[in-house]
Amino acid sequence: MHISISDRPPEAEGVRVVHAALDAGMTLIDTADVYCLDHTDIGHNERLISGALRTWSGPRENILVATKGGLTRPDGRWDRDARPSHLRAACEASLKALGVEQIALYQLHAPDPAVTLEDSVGTLADLQREGKIRWVGLSNVSVPEIRQAETIVPVVAVQNRLNPWFREALTGGLVKYCGERGIGFLAYSPTGGGRLTKKIPAHPVLGEIGRRLGATPHAVCLAWVLAQGPSVVVIPSARRVEHARDSASAAGLVLAAGDLEAVTRAVFDRS
Ligand SMILES: NC(=O)c1ccc[n+]([C@@H]2O[C@H](COP(=O)([O-])OP(=O)(O)OC[C@H]3O[C@@H](n4cnc5c(N)ncnc54)[C@H](OP(=O)(O)O)[C@@H]3O)[C@@H](O)[C@H]2O)c1
Repeated sequence: MHISISDRPPEAEGVRVVHAALDAGMTLIDTADVYCLDHTDIGHNERLISGALRTWSGPRENILVATKGGLTRPDGRWDRDARPSHLRAACEASLKALGVEQIALYQLHAPDPAVTLEDSVGTLADLQREGKIRWVGLSNVSVPEIRQAETIVPVVAVQNRLNPWFREALTGGLVKYCGERGIGFLAYSPTGGGRLTKKIPAHPVLGEIGRRLGATPHAVCLAWVLAQGPSVVVIPSARRVEHARDSASAAGLVLAAGDLEAVTRAVFDRS
């Protein structure tokens, strides 16, 4: 995301970051049509990823690219539009931007209060029947919304926020529900997103565990999120090659029960 929105690096550097993530063993890339500057730039991240995959020397068939529809960027704002007509046009544009005949995982970016969830999810079900989407996912949803969507189409993934500062996906039972239903939970902003991520290097508990295990505090944070359930996947972003590599290292970092507990109990100040 950050390689396509404001403060993005030069495109060649963005491609290097994607290559570094793939070389480090990451196999899931999460994108969206709206990861761009504004309405004139829709699809920037999808085009960048498509180009990066074309020039990557590794096995592309092992990489799953997930994208989303249901938001717009008028003059750089983030607005919702999950009307059937918009979702259909957005899906067509994403197919083109990604250069594929079928999108592996297409996620409703967020429910739109101006449209019934039934209409939005029903459109994704139609796109799946037409072969344009392989799997359907949801984002920024509640458990009742997932249940409602499941009456229309199989839901394979849910993408909501989860990090040590924001644990509503845990306390509200959403991660548990996904685990029970075999739905992948894609934790977004897993290290807190832009502003809160900057607090990680000075965090005493993450720092102490990291020093002891020879890992960065960011990797410890990601390992804590990953440990929250068997169906939890983290989708950290990066603008720098070293950050992509460091985030990938978290996949091999297993925290002992005492360390997990210490992070769970630690204070994470949002101010
Ligand atoms: N569905 C939704 O509504 C939604 C909303 C938000 C995000 N997302 C998804 O979630 C992904 C991640 O979310 P996010 O970008 O908000 O949060 P994040 O991954 O928690 O934080 C990203 C920030 O962490 C920094 N970072 C990453 N690894 C680091 C390391 N090892 N050391 C130091 N800094 C490090 C990055 O810095 P640099 O940029 O300098 O490398 C970047 O600024 C997005 O790419 C997107 O796919 C989805």
